[in-house]
Amino acid sequence: MNNEELYLEIKEAQESQLDFLVTQFSPDNPKFQYNRFAVQKRGEGLYMIAWHNNAPVGHFLLRWSGPHVESVTKLVDISHSAFLEAGLTIDEYRRKGVATAIIKEAERLAKERKCTSIGLEVGISNAEAKRLYQKLGYIDWGHGEFLISWEYEDEYGNTGIETEVVIYMQKELILAIK
Ligand SMILES: CC(C)(COP(=O)(O)OP(=O)(O)OC[C@H]1O[C@@H](n2cnc3c(N)ncnc32)[C@H](O)[C@@H]1OP(=O)(O)O)[C@@H](O)C(=O)NCCC(=O)NCCS
Repeated sequence: MNNEELYLEIKEAQESQLDFLVTQFSPDNPKFQYNRFAVQKRGEGLYMIAWHNNAPVGHFLLRWSGPHVESVTKLVDISHSAFLEAGLTIDEYRRKGVATAIIKEAERLAKERKCTSIGLEVGISNAEAKRLYQKLGYIDWGHGEFLISWEYEDEYGNTGIETEVVIYMQKELILAIK
């Protein structure tokens, strides 16, 4: 696709869209979308989707607090810090502002929830994502790297554990004074 100006709509996922979202984002790992939506259903966050011309082109999971991993919680008070995870823009829509638009909307929503900061984890070898987050004001927490892991289940029901070495980055959110 060319470099047309994208008209994006950022909306929380609806349950009726989940099968479609699986086909767009993770056909080999169908449970991913359902797990993200479960977070939203429990009231712990929002599963945010960027739509362009009725097609889902990017997503992030916004949690109202996190990450709940000891490597971070022993050093950072995350009780009023929102947390962004599982960000992805589909290949042909990258470098067009999709992730930026989702992150900015996530920050607005986190402020509405009175979160005073927002954080995320990024893989130590993911230079592209780290550069984007830095550009958006996220700062390396300065306490080094740590290992995260999560369970997956593929389309055949096989389960496994994936791991990644990450750092934590955080941004202060300036709340409007009323
Ligand atoms: C990381 C990722 C989510 C970024 O998504 P994206 O939608 O391409 O992000 P954006 O378009 O908002 O920003 C990416 C870059 O494009 C630039 N950009 C934004 N709009 C642009 C436009 N209209 N024209 C040209 N460049 C543009 C941004 O300034 C940014 O520049 P940078 O590389 O110098 O930082 C995407 O690369 C991805 O899905 N990667 C694989 C999964 C992943 O690593 N996820 C992150 C886990 S922490």
